[in-house]
Formats: sequence, C-alpha cells, structure tokens
Amino acid sequence: MAPASRLLALWALAAVALPGSGAEGDGGWRPGGPGAVAEEERCTVERRADLTYAEFVQQYAFVRPVILQGLTDNSRFRALCSRDRLLASFGDRVVRLSTANTYSYHKVDLPFQEYVEQLLHPQDPTSLGNDTLYFFGDNNFTEWASLFRHYSPPPFGLLGTAPAYSFGIAGAGSGVPFHWHGPGYSEVIYGRKRWFLYPPEKTPEFHPNKTTLAWLRDTYPALPPSARPLECTIRAGEVLYFPDRWWHATLNLDTSVFISTFLG
Ligand SMILES: *[C@@H]1O[C@H](CO)[C@@H](O)[C@H](O)[C@H]1NC(C)=O
Ligand SMILES: *[C@@H]1O[C@H](CO)[C@@H](O)[C@H](O)[C@H]1NC(C)=O
Ligand SMILES: *[C@@H]1O[C@H](CO)[C@@H](O)[C@H](O)[C@H]1NC(C)=O
Repeated sequence: MAPASRLLALWALAAVALPGSGAEGDGGWRPGGPGAVAEEERCTVERRADLTYAEFVQQYAFVRPVILQGLTDNSRFRALCSRDRLLASFGDRVVRLSTANTYSYHKVDLPFQEYVEQLLHPQDPTSLGNDTLYFFGDNNFTEWASLFRHYSPPPFGLLGTAPAYSFGIAGAGSGVPFHWHGPGYSEVIYGRKRWFLYPPEKTPEFHPNKTTLAWLRDTYPALPPSARPLECTIRAGEVLYFPDRWWHATLNLDTSVFISTFLG
C-alpha cells in the first residue's frame, strides 16, 4: 500500500472505532437537542467505585442514595439496546406507555416502532406531565426475554426483597416528577439522567401533573440552600441506588435508555 492510501485506511479504521461520538457512542439515539438541559453545578450524591456489600449495607442501604460505578459490565446489553437493534427485534411489539406525572394511571398501548418514530422527541417545555407519554415499566418480560436475559443487575440485594425490572426509553427533557416507592437501582444504558432526591421526611414542593422540566425552571431556582435536593447526573454504566421511600424526580438530559431494578 502506498503511504497515502495506508494513512487513509488507518483514518477510516479510527473513525469507525472511536467511541463517544455519533452512532457509536449513543447507540443511534440522538443526544439532547439545541435547548438541552444542563447538568447540575455540583453533584451532591456520593460516587463509589470500590464498595463492598458490607459497606453498602452499613453506609447507604437504609440511609442515603449512592452512585455505584464498575459493579457490572452491561456492554453486551448496551449493544443490544442500540436503536437499530431494538427496532429490528421489537419494532412490531406493542408497548404500554404511562403518563409522566406523579400518580400515573392512564396507559396507552402502541407498537414500539411507532413510539420511537413518532413520540420519542424532546419534551415540550409547555406540556403537562399528565399529557406526556413515557415508555418506562409495564414491560412484557415474555416478549422481551431475549433482551432482558443479557442484563446484569446490581449484585447487592436486600434481605426479604425480590428484584423486578422496569425498562424504558425517553426523549431529552422528559422525566417523572417527584414520587416515592420502595428501594431500588436505576442504571443508564444510553444518554444521561439527572436525579433530584429528598429524604422521606422532607416532602418537596411540586405539582404532581407538572413535568420535572417545569419544576426545574419554575421552582428549583428559588429554593434556599437548605431546601435543595440531593442531585446528580448519571451516565451510561453508572447505577444510582435510592433507599426506601426517598422522594425522587428524574430528568433525561439526552434521549436515554435506562433500566431500574426495584427491590420490592
Ligand atoms: C392535566 O392536569 C391538569 C392540572 O392538574 C388538569 O387541569 C388537566 O385537565 C389534566 N389533563 C388531562 C388530560 O387529564
Ligand atoms: C392530575 O391529572 C389527573 C388526570 O390527568 C387528574 O385526575 C388530577 O386531578 C390532576 N391532579 C391535580 C392535583 O391537578
Ligand atoms: C405478553 O406477551 C405474551 C406473548 O405475546 C402474551 O401472550 C401476553 O398476554 C402478554 N402479557 C401481557 C401482560 O400483556
């Protein structure tokens, strides 16, 4: 090969192999649009890369949230969650969508491909949460078994609880406003998810039908330091643990693919 064409071949190889950009890094799910929401100024949830099970139980499980890094390797699952792979495998399957408000009872059934192509757009900042459809949970684990068997959940269990998955994909700026339930984990597969958390005794000020985006714009800026939530943005490969009954609201900063493991 002549030097010039060898260089060209090398360049082409590098362009294909470089992660973090274009279709390679985001799985074909587009990042945030022009009006993308920013990350927090300062993450106030601890990140731990080296946590033992004993430390998890003693320092976090019943006390405060924590972000776990490097616990599991879900790169195979991530590859299966690219836009092309999911559409090829599950495009014609019907998925159940929920409204993105605190007490969400309204459900809509739609083929997965229709959701991805028509509803998976950035959140309209003027819409209400109870008018916004969100794909998260209500998964049919029979139909999607070939995907979920490749997911490795966080290995730290809690006595007397059984893990249950909730899988979802949602547009930039979307999220669920403040709510609480039992303890669990949330892992980002593609994109970024910003979290806001309050302990059970500190009920936040929020409207259950407004979006997290509206809360961030209208309520958050006026909060005195003592009333601010714990907050952090997690990215692909990171897992956030939330203890029992902690209030939390989420905001997807990009088109995001995510999976929760609820410890019921
Ligand atoms: C959504 O919530 C608002 C405010 O709570 C309410 O006025 C409106 O009727 C609701 N929309 C639907 C479709 O239920
Ligand atoms: C929120 O919206 C639901 C239906 O979309 C409605 O039934 C409920 O009353 C609303 N809640 C408030 C506090 O406005
Ligand atoms: C899940 O999918 C299977 C196979 O298509 C179907 O028989 C079953 O009714 C579905 N379950 C629910 C809860 O929709």
